[in-house]
Order: sequence, then structure tokens, then C-alpha cells
Amino acid sequence: MTEGVPLPERRAGPEAPPFPSAEARLDALFAEVISTPEGRRDPYSRYRALREAAPVYASSMGPVICTRYEECQSVLRDPRLGKDEGRRDEAIRARFGHLEIFPRIEELVSDRRSLLFLNPPDHTRLRSLVSKAFTTRSIDQLRPEIVALVDRLLDRIEAGSVTDVMDALAFPLPAAVISHMIGVPEEDWPRLRAVVGRATALLEPIVPEDELEAALHAQLELEAYFEQLVAARRRQPGDDLLSGLIAVQEGSDRLSGIELVSTVILLFGAGFETTTNLIGNGLYALLSNPEELSRLRRRLAAGDRAAVVRSAVEELLRFDSPVQFDGRQAFEDLEVAGIPVRAGTEVVTVLGAANRDPEHFSDPDRLDLGRDEGPPLSFASGIHYCLGASLARAEGQVVFDRLLERFPDIALVGEEPEWRPRITLRGLSRLPVVFSS
Ligand code: HEM
Repeated sequence: MTEGVPLPERRAGPEAPPFPSAEARLDALFAEVISTPEGRRDPYSRYRALREAAPVYASSMGPVICTRYEECQSVLRDPRLGKDEGRRDEAIRARFGHLEIFPRIEELVSDRRSLLFLNPPDHTRLRSLVSKAFTTRSIDQLRPEIVALVDRLLDRIEAGSVTDVMDALAFPLPAAVISHMIGVPEEDWPRLRAVVGRATALLEPIVPEDELEAALHAQLELEAYFEQLVAARRRQPGDDLLSGLIAVQEGSDRLSGIELVSTVILLFGAGFETTTNLIGNGLYALLSNPEELSRLRRRLAAGDRAAVVRSAVEELLRFDSPVQFDGRQAFEDLEVAGIPVRAGTEVVTVLGAANRDPEHFSDPDRLDLGRDEGPPLSFASGIHYCLGASLARAEGQVVFDRLLERFPDIALVGEEPEWRPRITLRGLSRLPVVFSS
């Protein structure tokens, strides 16, 4: 088994319990990742141990867990699996029924009607309504604006003093871009940042009760905010995505009022939580691998900058994915790599583990910014493939390109920075560094 992963030990003596079963050892590893600070700080050694022992395993907690690229990809693409729409009410009752806020959950519409949680044909209909704004072509047109935004943020950085990259760059850039696209006023961002941060706890496999309650309150707050914004744009349309969607909603029966609000909340939340962590995790990976960083700087100076930065961002996405967990529910009895999966079972695709699968990526625990082994699974696969992938890539490319050009020396401050107590959305709370020009 893997170094540094404490597994249940066998005690000596006649009263010693038998060896834990293979399943119990796998469960213990998985539980460490989702519920302990050590496991969240270093999930990769645990993933490796899981993958080596059983790349697909039926956990005693219920879900089937996949840690190899091949099975994760095929599960995400397989139409026999999908989102658990049918079980939602039951699942919501099981998860939240004991909370004080439970009676108000019925008011919560956004969680249920966004495309992230739907299957075809509703998913197909909703996705086609918003996808045009996110094509590579549309995003390319936004590039000059992204460059200008990044430059403005970099102008504010004081060379020689300690800067928290999360606050100075990783959050404000994606927030500005998606807010501008949707039409969310800038003065509302700081409040919304905290609210979205609380709401995303709902995506985590394990959440302390107080955080769960806070997450539901946050979700209600987001709904109230965006309902008001929709009403304001109805009265006074602008040149933004929200006004465009309102026009679709008013002019056809292709989008209901609930779907409109839930889609906008999804776009807003997905638009910055994840990209923030691409910037934070990516810069941390670069600064922790100084030789690779120097090689990257040399290649940027020598060659086709755009191509070099493009492949570097793909590798940063692979190396420490901002989204670690994804999953589907089986619609019928089936098998994944020979393991039986009953209808209704949840199959967890551990994207962070798939990205470190040695059968797919050579020497996968090494950061190799010139790697050319195909895309990681960080944006998932199949019909729910990240709608914002081109946008996230463009933001990441511009940030790393401009940052490395502007600052010839960037140094981490202190020891390992602090990780947020999250695993589905993996990221740092702070990343203090000193930039020198
Ligand atoms: C590095 C940044 C990002 C990562 C790693 C990421 C990752 C993902 C993943 C893994 C999924 C699939 C979820 C599933 O299979 O259920 C997804 C879906 C989605 N993402 Fe992203 N995302 C990022 C940035 C963005 C941005 C900037 C947007 C902009 C609005 C966005 C919007 C969406 C939407 C709307 C979906 C749902 C698509 C669907 O269900 O059809 N994402 N993302």
C-alpha cells in the first residue's frame, strides 16, 4: 500500500480482531479523502492506493467508486447513467429532513431545474439555449477584455510585499468576467462571493450540519437575489446574457421562469468558484515545482507563447483539478469493469484520480508542462461536459501568460498554504506570495 496512508493496523495477541476486509480498507481510504484534513490535503496518495487495490469498488457507504480514467470517462458518457432527477425528493428528504430549515426547502427551485441536474430532453433544451454564449468562438471575442482585466488586477499588485493571490487575482478575475457576461452589478460581488462559497457546500459528499443549514440559507439568498435581478432586467433590458435569456423566456415556451433563475445561478456560481481554483491550485503547483516553472519561462520566451501556455494550462488542470468528484446514477442494472451496479446506485467518478491514472498519463504524479497526452477529465465528459471549459481555459491562459511575463520572480510565503475544507471543489483559502518585478 501507499506510503503515508495510515490503514487500520492488526493488533497482536489472542484478542486481535481479524484483518480488516479488503472493502473495509478501501472504505477507510475513501473516508479519509472525504472527511479528514490530511486526506483532503493529499488526496492523491489515497487515490493511488484505491486505484491499485480496486479501480472500481462498491463501497459499503452505497456508491460505486471509480478511480481509473477509462471507467470514469465511460461512466460519464454512458446514457444508461445520468442525473438522479427521479430520486431527488426522496434524496432531499433523507439528507435534509432533520434540519430546521427543511420546511422551506420546497421554496428552493434552483437546485432542481438547472441543466447540471437534468437529463435529456430537458437538459438538451436548456443547454442549447445558453451554449452559444460559451462556444470557443464567442469566448475568443472576449479575450481582449480578459487581458485588460488581468492587466488591471496585476497593476494593483505591489511588488515586494506579500499578496494573497486568491483575493488579488484568483477570485476577482472570474467573478468580473462572468458577472459582466450575465449582467451582475460589481458592487454585489463581495456579498455574493461569500454566499456562493457557502452554497457550494451542497456539492460536498460530507458536510457538517451547521454548514449544511448555512448552505441551504445561502441557496435561498441566491434565489432571492437573482429573482430580483431578473425582475430588474425585465423592466430595463441590457446587453447581457440575462436579458437575452429573458427575451427567450418571454418569446417562446422553451424556458420557464424557474429554469431561468436556476440557470443563471448555475452559470454565476460555476463561472467563478472553479476557475478561482484553477488559478490558485495552478500557481501553487508551479511555485512548488521551481524547475518546471523555469522550464516554462524558457519555453515561453523561446517559442509560440500561445501554444506553450495552452499546454501548460491543460497540465495544471490535470495535475490538481479544481473539481475532484463527479458522478451519475445508474438508470438500470449494469456492470462497470465487471462490477455489478444495480439500478439506482450512485457511481462516483473521481476526476482527480482519473487524471493521475498511470495507464493514461505517464509518470502521472509529476508536473510536466510540456505533456501532450490528451485532455484531462477535469471538465468531465459526455453531455454534461463543462459548458464553461473554453472560458475557464481562456482565463487560465491569460492569467499565467501575463503573470509570468510581468513578474520574473514569484516566491511562496510560508509553508504549505491552507486548503479549504472541501474536496468536490478543491482549492486554497489563501495563497500568500511575493511578486518581484
Ligand atoms: C477550471 C474551471 C472549471 C472546471 C474544472 C469545471 C468543471 C466542470 C465539470 C467537471 C462539469 C461537469 C459536471 C457533471 O458532469 O455533472 C462542469 C459542468 C458545468 N460547468 Fe464547469 N468548470 C469550470 C469552469 C466553468 C465556467 C467558467 C463556467 C461558466 C459559466 C462553467 C459552467 C458549467 C456549467 C453550466 C456546467 C453544467 C453543464 C451541463 O450540465 O450540461 N464551468 N464543469
